[in-house]
Amino acid sequence: MTYEEYKKNVELLNKYAYHYYVLDDPIATDEEYDRLYKQVEEYEKEHPDKILKESPTQRVGDRVAEGFEKARHLSRMWSLEDVFNHQELVEWIERIKKIDSDISFYCEPKFDGASLNLIYENGELKMGITRGDGVEGENITQNVKTIQTIPLVIKETSLIEIRGEVVIEKEEFDRINEERLKNGESPFANPRNAAAGSLRQLDPRVTAKRNLVFLPYGVGVNSLDFEYLSDLMEYIYSLGFKKPPFRAKAKDADAIEVIYQKMKEERESYPMMLDGMVAKVNELQKHEELGYTVKYPRFMIAYKFPAVEKVTRLKNVILQVGRTGVVTPVAVLEPVEIEGAVVERATLHNFDEIERKDIRIGDYVIVLRSGDVIPKITKVLKERRDGSEKVVERPKSCPVCGSELLDEGALIKCQNLSCEARVVNSIIYFASKQCLNIDGLGEKIVEQLYKAGLVKSVLDLYSLTMEQLLRLEGFKEKKARNLLEAIEASKGSELWRFINALGIEHIGEVASKMLAQAFGLEYKNANEEELLALEGFGEEMAKSFLEFMRVNKETVLKLEAVIRPVPPTREETAAENPFKGKRVVLTGTMSRPRDEIKEMLEKFGAKVSSSVSKKTDYVIHGEDAGSKYDKAVALGVKTITEEEMREMLF
Ligand code: IVH
Repeated sequence: MTYEEYKKNVELLNKYAYHYYVLDDPIATDEEYDRLYKQVEEYEKEHPDKILKESPTQRVGDRVAEGFEKARHLSRMWSLEDVFNHQELVEWIERIKKIDSDISFYCEPKFDGASLNLIYENGELKMGITRGDGVEGENITQNVKTIQTIPLVIKETSLIEIRGEVVIEKEEFDRINEERLKNGESPFANPRNAAAGSLRQLDPRVTAKRNLVFLPYGVGVNSLDFEYLSDLMEYIYSLGFKKPPFRAKAKDADAIEVIYQKMKEERESYPMMLDGMVAKVNELQKHEELGYTVKYPRFMIAYKFPAVEKVTRLKNVILQVGRTGVVTPVAVLEPVEIEGAVVERATLHNFDEIERKDIRIGDYVIVLRSGDVIPKITKVLKERRDGSEKVVERPKSCPVCGSELLDEGALIKCQNLSCEARVVNSIIYFASKQCLNIDGLGEKIVEQLYKAGLVKSVLDLYSLTMEQLLRLEGFKEKKARNLLEAIEASKGSELWRFINALGIEHIGEVASKMLAQAFGLEYKNANEEELLALEGFGEEMAKSFLEFMRVNKETVLKLEAVIRPVPPTREETAAENPFKGKRVVLTGTMSRPRDEIKEMLEKFGAKVSSSVSKKTDYVIHGEDAGSKYDKAVALGVKTITEEEMREMLF
């Protein structure tokens, strides 16, 4: 790679990352990105003096810090004054209109995360500082650089502080907590704590894994010249920062209210948590005129959403048995209304967690509910105990089948493979959307089929008859026919769905896709070495997979014989390359037998045919190419030599 090519490749990598992380609109596959990244890395190893500041390799530090140094903000970071209803909003507007009546507003979501100040000088990210006390925070530059939505280099070269909120999106929050539980760590109470905790990691590699997102909301020191805040923010986004999912201008309190109500209604569909809306005076000139109180700027206000956390009482702890036999404690709460929904249950994760938090029956607790995040207990109010609270005992026997439980610490498991809860839940899982996607086979129906003795395993689904179904309560001909058709339609499903449906511990959707891609129908015979060679496949996953196949191979074969899952085609599995999915014709004498070359090209996902047509993408020719070559030329089909083909591939 020449230096010019290196520069181009760094630019390309940054473009891919910008589309992926900032625009949420990928334009390259992970594989393409990784391949190019490795090439750039190699060049940099050979030319350490030529490394560009904006190179993505410069994001990943590996120096574990001993602590964080203090650093001063160039200008103070303020707080926001809160209002909670329309009346308070109107009062705020009246107050500022007394000072200046000619104002309009700009509204943005109020993100629930950790605030961050970025200092750029000469277009380079110089420092990232936590808010701290507003005057001085902690220098967390190393960690900040790992955040993909923060550009390392921007086109604005004057000294500028860009401020915003670091958040963790809801899905990522759940993923991190699942992982923490698996490792025996305490889950984060909410995405805000998770974001703040991740930013303050001493090892930047930990921060890098947390997929933090930075959303800019303003500037500190700067020499920009804009009349309106809305234009200033558009300029900031144009420097490579992420836009908020929603923003709007408003001319008065009523317009602000409309935007607020809309945001409140839609908040659950946003990927990140919001705790309100911020209304800001749009005319920048007026910011100076309005000035600050001791704590707050007068030119903006946080219009908070109703709390998603409420206090209630823990009435009981019940037990649920999942398809893998894991017994999960569930909190039964005194019903409490949070944001329009009545919450009566909350997840307690596991018994170690109950002990760690010392949660007792009868306790007053704080419950958090937000959108798709399952309600959870974030805090126990121990000061409110009166002595009548009862310690939650670890169960010894399965609440469903009564057999003895295996207590592994964090996990407590029912070992009985034919425990009703395990069987029913594994059938429900088998039929679910991310598995065989059998329409109409939900929780209630599976339970009904099980109780009637018709289905004791997934295999039984495939021998259900019309007569059997018609004997069940609530089944008329149409419903029965639909169900039978849906079961029938699951035959011939994609192989990864089938593997996922087996419900092997630690083997989810992504791992199932990898297995299907790498081994096709031979997945069941993959050995440890082959499994570990797959990217991201750890020991635990391999062990679980091998053990499952050792015990259940017979059943898997029987299921396969009925369902006949379809492995991905070579075209689908081949890595990105110039011949993937292309129609190719070979002609002339080549360096190796043509069949061998055909086989190789097919492995790369090409369709090799024997006759040339307008649809042919390439005619690859060896020596003494004859009529096929002439036809290609006549039709304007691209012709390349065997040598050129090899160059394109290797
Ligand atoms: S404006 C004047 N805009 O909320 C200081 N802040 O409760 C506020 N926040 O510390 C800057 N979203 O970290 C602003 N769209 C937004 C915001 C936002 C979240 C945070 C910010 C601030 C805190 C105050």
